[in-house]
Amino acid sequence: MATTNKIIAIDGYSSCGKSTLAKALAERLHYLYIDSGAMYRAVTLYFLRHAVSVRHEEEVAAALRQIHIDFHIEPGKTRIFLNGEDVSDEIRQMHVSDYVSEVSAVKAVREAMVAQQQRLGKDKNIVMDGRDIGTTVFPEAHLKIFMTADPKVRAERRYLELKAKGEDTTLEEVFENLAHRDYIDTTRDESPLVRAEDAIILDNTDLNQAEQLQFVLDRL
Ligand code: DC
Repeated sequence: MATTNKIIAIDGYSSCGKSTLAKALAERLHYLYIDSGAMYRAVTLYFLRHAVSVRHEEEVAAALRQIHIDFHIEPGKTRIFLNGEDVSDEIRQMHVSDYVSEVSAVKAVREAMVAQQQRLGKDKNIVMDGRDIGTTVFPEAHLKIFMTADPKVRAERRYLELKAKGEDTTLEEVFENLAHRDYIDTTRDESPLVRAEDAIILDNTDLNQAEQLQFVLDRL
């Protein structure tokens, strides 16, 4: 896939600050930011609402035919719509986080999302974050970053974020959810989370947001 448009792929573990960095980069470079995790979360929300079992191939295939995901991109914020409904806030809640790794391990779900992500990145300069962007979605991305951070630091950051949104949860619960998602994301059969050989590792345990942005800008 020879492209002239520029693609920056940011992969890594859950709650490593991928989206914060990706948004800052997109803003600085005037690229489009696409949050691929939000797409898996929107599918998960649909599966939860319609009691779709990940074990039933036909149910999954039928559900995928009913699911339409759109991004509405406005300066400073992007909203995600599931069949016309703005689900940007609901997809961040714990009931979705608890189930999203199971749903995103399903082959048919991944095929549908990857195809849509590749369409979104066609002819545009984009920053996309996720788990398989540099390996599967855009193996020819111009720059690949693989983000990681201390698991305790990640859990604390996500816990504070959820508390700020009024979510009723504990640090232990958030830590467990992250550990569970890391396990499934890295061990699933379908494009597991793995660093692309040509991805640059960014460990942000001790880096603030400005330092992370500079780290990437220096490598462009
Ligand atoms: O980035 P996030 O935490 O919002 O992603 C939610 C889940 O979606 C995550 O647990 C794994 C899955 N995911 C994926 O499998 N592939 C992607 N490209 C992005 C997310």
